[in-house]
Amino acid sequence: MSKTTSSDSQLPFSKKFLWGASVSTHQVEGNNHNQWTVWELENAATLARSAKGRYGQLEVWDDIKDEATRPENYVSGKAAEHYRRYRDDFKLAKQLKLNAMRSGIEWSRIEPKVGQFNQRAIEHYRQYFTEMKQQGIEPILTLWHWTMPEWFADKGGFLKRANVKYFTRYVQYVMENIGVNFRYVITINEPTIYSAFSYYYKRWPPQHGSVLDTYLVMKNLARAHRRAHAIIKRFQPKAQIGLAHNCAYVYTDDDSWISSLSVRIAHYIGNKWFINQVKKQQDFLGLNYYLGHRIKGVRSANTNDKPLNDLGWRMEPELLGKLAEQLYSEYGLPILVTETGVADKNDTHRKWWIQNNLSSLALAEKRGAEILGYIHWSLLDNFEWAEGFWPRFGLIEVDYKTQARTIRPSAKWYATVIKQSRGDT
Ligand code: BGC
Repeated sequence: MSKTTSSDSQLPFSKKFLWGASVSTHQVEGNNHNQWTVWELENAATLARSAKGRYGQLEVWDDIKDEATRPENYVSGKAAEHYRRYRDDFKLAKQLKLNAMRSGIEWSRIEPKVGQFNQRAIEHYRQYFTEMKQQGIEPILTLWHWTMPEWFADKGGFLKRANVKYFTRYVQYVMENIGVNFRYVITINEPTIYSAFSYYYKRWPPQHGSVLDTYLVMKNLARAHRRAHAIIKRFQPKAQIGLAHNCAYVYTDDDSWISSLSVRIAHYIGNKWFINQVKKQQDFLGLNYYLGHRIKGVRSANTNDKPLNDLGWRMEPELLGKLAEQLYSEYGLPILVTETGVADKNDTHRKWWIQNNLSSLALAEKRGAEILGYIHWSLLDNFEWAEGFWPRFGLIEVDYKTQARTIRPSAKWYATVIKQSRGDT
C-alpha cells in the first residue's frame, strides 16, 4: 500500500517535521492602528453595500448575507483578541499536537510614530514568543504581513525606494531588542500578492491601478528582503530566513505547444520572477499555496469543474505536492509550506484538503524534495482583509461575540494524523 494515500497510515516525514498552523498579526490580534484600519473605516460602508455584487453568486450567500452586508464585517476591531488571549491559543495549538506556529510582529505597534519605538510592544512580543517556545511550539516569525504604520503609508510605503530604510530600521530594532532566538524567520508575506492587490487591482489600500507602481513595489519589497536578510543574519546567524511566497501550480491538460509555452510563461511571471530577485538571500522557500491555474492555449481555463470553497475558489489540494516538487527541482532549496487552507465555514472540505495536501507532499518527499513542514492557514478564524470576517479559515472556530474558541472536527482529525506520523503515544 502506498504510504501516501491513506489518512491513517504513517506519513514519511521525519521527527523534525514542522507540524503547524499560521496566523498574522492584523488578522487576529485586535485593536491595531495601522494603514489598513484607517482604510477599513473609510470603506466599510461601501464594501457592505456592494457585498451582493461580489458574493451574491456564491453558494454560501444565503448563509453569509447578513454578515457580509453589515459594515462591521469589514472593520477588524477586536478581531480574535489574540493579542491578549495568546497563551490560551497556544494551549489549543498544543492540544492539536502542533509543534510549530507561524506568527508575527506588528510594525505599527513597534514604531507607532516615525523613529519612536515602543518598548512595551517589543516586550509583549518577547513574552509572546518566549511563551510559545516554552509550550514546545517552534516559532516561525513573520516580520511583515501587509500592515504598516500610518506614517509609513503617508510617506508612500513601499512604492518609494527611499522608504526601504525605514523597514530595515524596524527589522534592526526587532533583532536588537526581541531577546528570542528564532530558527525560522520570514521577512515578507506574499510580496507579489500584496503588490498586485494594492497597486494593480485596486482591491486593497492604497488602491492604485498602475502596472508601473506594481512593478516598483515588487522591486522595493525584494530590496527590503535582501537588506533585512543581511541584518537578521548579523544578529541571529543560525536563523533560517525566507519569504512566504504565494505560488499557484500552473498546468495544462492538453498537449499543444502553445499551452505548454503559456504554462512556462505564467509559472515564470507568477512564481519564479520574485524568487529570482532574492535567490541568494533565502535559506528555504516558504510556500503559500491556495490555487491551481489551468491554462488552455493562451488563456486561463479555470472552469468550475472542481469543488469550490466558500469564497468560490477552485479546490485542488493535491497540486501542493507537485508545486513543491517543481520548485525544489528548480531551486534546490528546502520547502516550508508556510500557508495553505480553505474558507470553509461548515468544515465540509477542510479534512479532505489537508489529507490531499499531505499525501501529495509525502509523494514529493518520496521523489526527493526536501519538505521542512506543513503550516496550515489558519490556526484561528480571522479577519480576511477586504472580505472581512465572514470567510472562515480556522482549524479553530471563533465566535466573535463571545470570543469562544471551538476546535473544528477537521482539526481534531489533523491532530491524530500528526500524532500517528510522529509515532507519539
Ligand atoms: C494571506 C493570508 C490570507 C490567506 C487567505 C494569504 O494570501 O497571506 O493573510 O488570509 O491568503 O486568503
